[in-house]
Amino acid sequence: MPIKKAVLPVAGLGTRFLPATKAQPKEMLPIVDKPTIQYVVEEAIKSGVDDFLFVTGKDKRALEDYFDHSGELERHLSEKGKTELLELVQTIASMCQVHYVRQKKPLGLGHAVYCARQHVGNEYFAVLLGDDLVISEVPCLRQMMDVHEATGKPVIAIRRVPHQNVSSYGIIAGKPVGDRTWEITDLVEKPKPEDAPSDLAVIGRYILPPDIFPILENLPPGVGGEIQLTDALRELLKKTPIIGYEFEGIRYDVGDPKGFLVATVEIALSRDDLKGDFGKYLGRLVRERGLLPE
Ligand code: G1P
Repeated sequence: MPIKKAVLPVAGLGTRFLPATKAQPKEMLPIVDKPTIQYVVEEAIKSGVDDFLFVTGKDKRALEDYFDHSGELERHLSEKGKTELLELVQTIASMCQVHYVRQKKPLGLGHAVYCARQHVGNEYFAVLLGDDLVISEVPCLRQMMDVHEATGKPVIAIRRVPHQNVSSYGIIAGKPVGDRTWEITDLVEKPKPEDAPSDLAVIGRYILPPDIFPILENLPPGVGGEIQLTDALRELLKKTPIIGYEFEGIRYDVGDPKGFLVATVEIALSRDDLKGDFGKYLGRLVRERGLLPE
């Protein structure tokens, strides 16, 4: 069965991005001129998802407003004859079917996914984390869906990371079983480098079965005192094989100021309307400030 539903946990407080996130959701911070969350939503739409559940928290109203019509703005643009802009804002409001559920306590990613159980029901679904942006020819989630459709198994996006960074991720142990695919044998959330079973990190894209919900319901808190999705996957592994998939594409961690800047510069340089002037400016800056590597 094709995956039609996506769950987007967006309740996080964005502490890595304070003070910018003090009064606005981190998902609304723009990369060039588009909120980060829209890149993720567009990836899922292009992959075939037509139903979104945002697991929101306090102070996330801007997200709901963003994916809704804005009467006043649309009237204004229409009166001024700004048809292109009018179409742009109308498209965003109608691009997808969005539902919302509140995660009432910040109990972790596993708990956020658990909040989706009623909406998801008894079918496979996708989870996409807004901090991970993937730019690729074939959308990352679509690549994973192809693996899921071929195998009928849960699929998790993975990527090799520098060994010193493993403690920022869920890390898998596994054996290669095909092109870019690994059979996962174990998972551990945010291990110390000396305890990590590999350098293969879980990136924020998951295709999960509904069986994950009863596991999450009974899961004790893990690392950081939070209900961890990684711990639930470890339990799931006892019942069903899980595939790790090394997706193709560039991945940015936009939940962190440095990754956000890298994404902003690279995405700007990939745009026809910006790369000329902005590229020249960057080249000049690098020369003038002596920023070229030795
Ligand atoms: C979450 C997951 C972690 C995963 C990471 C990917 O961590 O818990 O397993 O590797 O996303 O971005 P977070 O970054 O929310 O701490």
